[in-house]
Amino acid sequence: MAGPAPSADGSAARNPLTVLTLHDLRRRSSVKWRMHPPDVLPLWVAEQDVPLAAPVADVLRRAVDLGDTGYAHGTAYAEALGEFAAGRWDWHDFRVDRTSVVPDVMMGVVEVLRLVTGPGDAVVVCSPVYPPFYAFVEHAGRRVIEAPLGPDLRMDPAALDEAFRRARACGSQPAFLLCNPHNPTGVVHRRDELEAVAELARRHGVRVVSDEIHAPLVLPGARFTPYLTVSGAEDAFALTSASKAWNLAGLKAAVAIAGPEATADLRRMPEEVSHGPSHLGVLAHTAAFRAGGPWLDLLLDGLDANRTLLETLLAKHLPAVTHRPPEGTYLAWLDCTRLGIPTEQPGGPGVASDLAGPARWFLDHARVALSSGHVFGTGGAGFVRLNFATSPAILTEAVTRMGRAVEALRPAG
Ligand SMILES: Cc1ncc(COP(=O)(O)O)c(C=O)c1O
Repeated sequence: MAGPAPSADGSAARNPLTVLTLHDLRRRSSVKWRMHPPDVLPLWVAEQDVPLAAPVADVLRRAVDLGDTGYAHGTAYAEALGEFAAGRWDWHDFRVDRTSVVPDVMMGVVEVLRLVTGPGDAVVVCSPVYPPFYAFVEHAGRRVIEAPLGPDLRMDPAALDEAFRRARACGSQPAFLLCNPHNPTGVVHRRDELEAVAELARRHGVRVVSDEIHAPLVLPGARFTPYLTVSGAEDAFALTSASKAWNLAGLKAAVAIAGPEATADLRRMPEEVSHGPSHLGVLAHTAAFRAGGPWLDLLLDGLDANRTLLETLLAKHLPAVTHRPPEGTYLAWLDCTRLGIPTEQPGGPGVASDLAGPARWFLDHARVALSSGHVFGTGGAGFVRLNFATSPAILTEAVTRMGRAVEALRPAG
């Protein structure tokens, strides 16, 4: 029988989420697969259960064969990102001379915050949000002010207005760390929502730093808007990389992009920051943006199918759990407050691996590892974040296990 047709990038045209078996995955040594014992199905940290895209694997293999493992050089990464951004998001005024390579997205966020805020200044975040937004901001000597998402899990302009006002009152140079698209809810902010952010930020004198690491992972039905293409965002920064979409977290390299009115700030970025990303990381991320489009399209189809499968599985096995299917990312934000599981919050936000409430309970009773909602800040307690970038078989087994564990909670009879 003929195998799958080769795609434009030379790899078999196959859903990357169905290539690896559980046996293959358990041989991995990354945190997703080593944090918990082997009887646990890990659906927590944002790593994907996929093989590398062929163009990325090829470039790495070539570098290893050549011993090409020295220091990174040049602007190929930003050029590849610019071409990808024009093709996918109609971002046509992307300028390579307004970019800088940084070690990874979170270190880039810290370095940009150092440029636009002062020690002790406030950084606003829309909770619940990616836990390192708290940890890294505090580590950088800034303080976090929360602007909680609305009940529809979208940004709430009134909450932002109030948070910007407070941020301004308690420091001279506040910033807003935007998560675009939003982790953990998978919300993809619309252009009108981002314009409202830009208008509020200008009014309050708040600088916006947009984390766009999930941008290539927007699923059918939604469209990604780069924040720097929004009118009023000219003094903002964006940070992105191929890390989430092509599963390259172990190959560090990201790009910081300045709006036209932020170019002078970017020039103040210390030269040594650009020494952080590794040459192999730069090669891998460049290849992903330049030649990884066909692989990404197959992945997005697979994630879209898993999004639908998850809905079906939840309806069947965990009908008391509610969620809004994500518009982007491979993360599902599950409301477990009606399960009758204790939702205690032992610590504050920020420590991504901290476990409590439903996530702790599902680990103990279903042997499924999820991210605990409380670490995402206000609004997170009682929720879990489930990473569905896995095979349909693993996803089915995990949700079935979770359903069986909840069923066992019910009094017999
Ligand atoms: C919103 C967001 N930003 C940043 C990161 C981490 O990126 P990096 O490893 O490049 O710092 C993640 C990882 O999941 C993320 O979800």
